[in-house]
Amino acid sequence: MEEKKVLYSAVQPTNNLTIGNYVGAIRNWVQLQDEYRCYYAIANMHAITVRQDPAALRKNTLQLLALYIACGIDPEKCVLYVQSHVPCHAELAWVLNTITYVGEMERMTQFKDKSARHAENINMGLMDYPVLMAADILLYQADVVPVGIDQRQHLEITRDIAIRFNNRYSPTFTVPEGIYGKVGAKINDLQDPSKKMSKSGDDPNGAIFLSDDRDTVIRKLRRAVTDSEACVRYDPENKPGVSNLLSIYSVMTDKSIEESQKEFEGKGYGEFKLAVGEAVADRIEPVQAEQKRLLADKGYLESVLKSGAEQAFRTARKTLDKVYRKIGFYQGDR
Ligand code: TRP
Repeated sequence: MEEKKVLYSAVQPTNNLTIGNYVGAIRNWVQLQDEYRCYYAIANMHAITVRQDPAALRKNTLQLLALYIACGIDPEKCVLYVQSHVPCHAELAWVLNTITYVGEMERMTQFKDKSARHAENINMGLMDYPVLMAADILLYQADVVPVGIDQRQHLEITRDIAIRFNNRYSPTFTVPEGIYGKVGAKINDLQDPSKKMSKSGDDPNGAIFLSDDRDTVIRKLRRAVTDSEACVRYDPENKPGVSNLLSIYSVMTDKSIEESQKEFEGKGYGEFKLAVGEAVADRIEPVQAEQKRLLADKGYLESVLKSGAEQAFRTARKTLDKVYRKIGFYQGDR
């Protein structure tokens, strides 16, 4: 039997996830878990590159784990773990730091953006973020890395670092390919449909969080920006607001855009928005219920993390030993 290819991805345990994250990431992860040997990490070491409230960070970690599982990620099929539980990440990042240039890191778009947004806290970790991400991916010899398009540059530098190491020493790392979110399933901000729906958007009414209750979902949709044509038609160019709502409806109900559009023929925006709200709530309520049930079973969640960390460590340590050998770290009889 041919071995499955390795897939690696991670999400930071910060804030709430939006329905955009669900559509763009988690839902795809669920679909990929049979085809690949999957490692899914909760990237708490990346999270602290911007200021975090310790209690919130701790709480979000378990919440995110429960959410993953509630969305259908199966801990029996995948390795689900917390980044800081596997010390190899920090160790490999240190080695990779020595073959990565300051200039390369200074040129990273996300570093420049975040430096502007957090001018009071441009710490070394923020600059080193892509190297830690390279360590994450390379430790598991990942073949593919599904990420949002905003992570493309980080993936490119990961490839550069892998190739550089392989050339300087000898072939050690698999050079990973990025899989960038499918087009067509993108969800935009409800208040500014020219922007991607994001957990850190300016207007809290622009994003629907997976933790929002039915009333909140319906209220946010009622306020969503549309247009004055009063016709439910998919036309992202001229009707970005309405088209975005149609996309949301279509994704949440598993109906095609055409089918969804037909359903609202001759109907007003009020009725349309309410239907979108109900569809979103119908879809996320069972996930929330399952997440809540899981959070009440801390023993189970901890057993998932323990087993995840053990499995991850075994693979990661193998790669790290190889790296240490190649760079000349004396390892005794290890
Ligand atoms: N930087 C990624 C993000 O914010 C999260 C992440 C950390 C990641 N390590 C990773 C994604 C490794 C893919 C692979 O989205």
